[in-house]
Amino acid sequence: MDSFKLLSLLKTCISSKSLVKGKLIHQKVISLGLQNNVSICKSLISFYFSSHLHDSAYRVFNTIEHPLDISLWNGLMAAYAKSFMYFEALELFQRLWEYPYLKPNSFTYPSVLKACGGLGNVGYGKMIHTHLIKVGSLYDVVVASSLVGMYAKCSMFDQATRMFDEMPERDVACWNTVISCYYQDGRAEKALELLGKMRDAGFEPNSVTLTVAISSCARLMDLERGKEIHGELVKDGIVLDGFFGSALVDMYGKCGCLEMAKEVFEQIPEKGVVTWNSMISGYSSVGDSRSCIELFRRMNAEGIKPSLTTLSSILMACSRSAQLQYGKFIHGYIIRNMIGADIFVNNCLIDLYFKCGNFHSAESIFEMMPKTDVVSWNVMISGFVSVGKYFDALITYEDMIKAGLNPDAVTFSSVLAACSQLAALEKGKEIHNSITQSSLERNEVVMGALLDMYAKCGAVDEAFRIFCNLPERDLVSWTSMITAYGSHGRALEALSLFGEMQKSSSKPDAVTFLAVLSACSHGGLVDEGCYYFNQMTSEHDIKPQLEHYSCLIDLLGRAGRLHEAYEFVQSNPETREDVGLLSTLFSACRLHKCLELGEKIAELLIKKDPDDSPTYIVLSNMYASAKKWDKVRKVKSNVHDFGMKFGVIAEEQFRCHEQAPTKTPSPESYPIVGNLLGFLRNRHRFHDWVADMLSQTPSSTLQVNSFLNLSQGVCTANPVNIQHLLHSNFHNYIKGSRFQENLHELLGTGIFSVDAHLWNLQRKISSHEFSTNSLKQHISDVVTSQLSHNLLPCLSNACNQNQIVDLQDILQRFTFSNICKIAFGVDITTLQNSGFVQAFDDAVEICSSRLLSPIPNVWKIKRLLNVGSEKRLKEAIDVVNDFAMEIIKSKERQRHNSSENRGKSKDLLSRFMSKTWEMEFEDQDQKRKFLRDIIISFVLAGKDSTSTALTWFFWLINGHPRCLRLILDEVSRLESFNYDELRELNYLHAALSESLRLFPPVPINSKLTVDDDVWPDGTQVRKGWFADYSAYGRMEKVWGPDCREFKPERWLDDEGVFKPCDQFRFPVFHCGPRMCLGKEMAYVQMKSVVVALMRGFEILAVDGGASAEKMMNPPYILTLNLKMKGGFLVKLKKRNDLI
Ligand code: HEM
Repeated sequence: MDSFKLLSLLKTCISSKSLVKGKLIHQKVISLGLQNNVSICKSLISFYFSSHLHDSAYRVFNTIEHPLDISLWNGLMAAYAKSFMYFEALELFQRLWEYPYLKPNSFTYPSVLKACGGLGNVGYGKMIHTHLIKVGSLYDVVVASSLVGMYAKCSMFDQATRMFDEMPERDVACWNTVISCYYQDGRAEKALELLGKMRDAGFEPNSVTLTVAISSCARLMDLERGKEIHGELVKDGIVLDGFFGSALVDMYGKCGCLEMAKEVFEQIPEKGVVTWNSMISGYSSVGDSRSCIELFRRMNAEGIKPSLTTLSSILMACSRSAQLQYGKFIHGYIIRNMIGADIFVNNCLIDLYFKCGNFHSAESIFEMMPKTDVVSWNVMISGFVSVGKYFDALITYEDMIKAGLNPDAVTFSSVLAACSQLAALEKGKEIHNSITQSSLERNEVVMGALLDMYAKCGAVDEAFRIFCNLPERDLVSWTSMITAYGSHGRALEALSLFGEMQKSSSKPDAVTFLAVLSACSHGGLVDEGCYYFNQMTSEHDIKPQLEHYSCLIDLLGRAGRLHEAYEFVQSNPETREDVGLLSTLFSACRLHKCLELGEKIAELLIKKDPDDSPTYIVLSNMYASAKKWDKVRKVKSNVHDFGMKFGVIAEEQFRCHEQAPTKTPSPESYPIVGNLLGFLRNRHRFHDWVADMLSQTPSSTLQVNSFLNLSQGVCTANPVNIQHLLHSNFHNYIKGSRFQENLHELLGTGIFSVDAHLWNLQRKISSHEFSTNSLKQHISDVVTSQLSHNLLPCLSNACNQNQIVDLQDILQRFTFSNICKIAFGVDITTLQNSGFVQAFDDAVEICSSRLLSPIPNVWKIKRLLNVGSEKRLKEAIDVVNDFAMEIIKSKERQRHNSSENRGKSKDLLSRFMSKTWEMEFEDQDQKRKFLRDIIISFVLAGKDSTSTALTWFFWLINGHPRCLRLILDEVSRLESFNYDELRELNYLHAALSESLRLFPPVPINSKLTVDDDVWPDGTQVRKGWFADYSAYGRMEKVWGPDCREFKPERWLDDEGVFKPCDQFRFPVFHCGPRMCLGKEMAYVQMKSVVVALMRGFEILAVDGGASAEKMMNPPYILTLNLKMKGGFLVKLKKRNDLI
């Protein structure tokens, strides 16, 4: 067999990929002694490469006795380069120098340069470049092109294009390389320019050129040019291949032309994953997650496996459209198919969960990720900021630092935003230091965020210092600084800065003018406001937006220049119709008692929306304060003329004006003693007495005068008034001195008794903690453990001994030990002789009697003399303080000794202790006092409320066997009772809510009025008056004629699912910004207790429970919490009727 025959056989083996035959031929070659034949060796090398047997190929080369033919070397080097085996290619090239007789030629260098490019080894590439210049090989167009390609691959685009410019001769490949170079270097415009030049030079672009050109159009969002290129392609009859087709789809998608993208997409005969990705990314960019998912399903059905890019694109679409369902589907797909999600996919998932408000899932994903990349930390931190979890953002930042990562500009900007929101100046300053250390002081974004942080934290001077040191002042920084001055009442400085800005090169925009106008508004600078408004339109040609008008109208309105404001609104067709502006002006009319203009505006507003009840109410209030009762009546009749569906409550407000034009109804009141006699007479049924009186008034609102007129006030059960009191005009109704004076010794400056800044600060910390999963889980664990170790054994004991026990007392002790464990992390049931329990109870009782005393301030005399209850209070408070301080100090010692335990303690005190790093204290004692006060507030809040609620609940179901049965049915279906399963107990939830409605643990609550006010029903409230609301749910107007009945069904929808009701109708947990923080905890606790007790025992009330008669006259005593008179005596029987 001769060598020709062997060569042809080897060719066939390569094309048919026949390994066995090829190997047989190799044997034959050896047996014939042809192993040094250059052509056969080259062919054998190709054969082995085609079978991926690279070692065998190398062996063929290595066994040649004298490899002195350069084409042999070139062949193997080219094969290596083609198979991405760049190291091997360069090694071979190195070996070539051992053979001085062999000279590399124009076929050698392209492979070597490709290997350099592939390895990014630009140093070696440059060496070869120098060598090529020396040997004069650069004239070869292929070699020069390869050199251009090498530089391009090593991202040295300038060098590549320079080389290209110097080339005397070029080929299409070379044009393509350099066009891609420009594209990859972000110079898409230049890439397109070169395409033109290529054509001018007489070269016909091929599909590679056009793909890059189309991608350049996509990057430039140049739809016109993209269409042109597409048109040429169609004209030339070029068939769409995967690459070019994908680039087109991508271009149309990016330019927002999804129809066209879809059309091209459907025309591509064989769609690879890149094509699918291009189409999906088009839909993703507009947040069309549904279309993305459809395509995803289609590609799966067509057997195309999605890549990680596919998944991240779809996830981005889902987060853009906040489509959690679809996002979860993709997440599920990743888990089911065990796809190793990369950092991009994980970041997209985190982003999605944050956007959809499901930050726990975001946290779980982050937990499982390797945390070596700063980007993932940034996604977490900015995610927390985006959902308002600023503390978590700061904690994550701390963890990131602990994990040894260096924050970058994005991290700093996000974490500074968190500081701004929390007004956490100290932390912000700390971050400022880190920024300085990271040398990011010249980063505009970071410095902008720093400026914003100082401005929002009220450190305006510090903000100004940053502003002065900015590397460059741009529009945003000028505007931020003007806003900072304006919003902190430094209107003149804001205006002076604006003057400076106008002299600089930055031109103000609409936002800057808004900052200027609002500075004028805050500073009451009416004329200046008008001047700048005119300047904005006339000199800067900025069309005012509604916000600008609103600022100006507010400014004029507050200054009482109402007619001017009105003319202003009317002068412009765009503002004339705007309800927001008219309403602002309407409120100003009410403020300045300008009835005539008010009527005019009300007419306009009513024309716009005849169903807008606030307009009628404000108008009727204006008439009422002007004593125009006939007009009040007319408004009401107009309401009917308009056929408006008016709620009972709104109706009542009119009736109130009609029937009691000058005075809010008041209970029987006598000179000197005020309402005292009525109070004493009805003390035993106080809440029912108040409820009766309230329901007899037209708008469920009363005015009350105390003994000697020492205090005066109002009390309401009208949801509209309650909304006004606790929400709309929140700042006008505070806990105030009455509450603080009476409870000062016990509560200090804890959350429960303070207002304004002190309250705000504690509220922020606490509401953050109460929203964490870890605290919720901890609460649930404590309740379960206390149930099995404390409550159930105690009841079993009583049951076994057939004792009558006071369930109210037992539940009180149980909830007290629960809250102590949650608050202090201490089990008081195991404490010996601490006296704390008794002392706390005594202190609460004495302080509440101060508050509830019909004659205020008598206790002050007793305190002065240090006698009676006041003497006992002093002693009790000492015990409480010693107890609390001892625990705080021991926790401090623990934290000091073991930094490991810091994050692990789950009780509230430890949590608050970790938060105190954020705050400034004068000394350690002040810090301890702060912790003592906030914790004692929590103990008080959580101590008796749930036990009281449970007591009445068991009493009620004793008198309602049908409800008892329904609850038992539901409870018996429960397999275990963990946190989630408790949520599913709809009937029990309804029954507990109904019980709370009838017997709210805090039936009446009091606020102090800061400034004169008029309630929505027209009730006048004077500065210094108390303003009470009653949560005792016996108002027929609110709950219907069956309001005194126990009917859990009123809380269920047709499917038996619990339906919550408006908070102002059911203010049992308070409402508005001071809403109870422990509501969720209370329900978990109540449900756990009910389930455990009802499964174990029949609870038989000695008095038979809630009979119809007792429902009318319930047995309570007058304390802060609605306690049952004489306790709740029960007998317990082991329950045998449940499985
Ligand atoms: C059935 C049980 C509960 C009811 C009916 C209830 C009701 C209320 C009410 C009416 C207030 C407003 C009190 C006022 O401002 O004078 C309040 C506030 C508060 N409650 Fe509850 N509560 C219950 C359980 C709990 C529990 C278990 C805790 C947790 C420890 C708790 C923590 C708080 C806190 C901290 C406040 C003060 C909020 C603030 O002023 O910002 N509550 N609760």
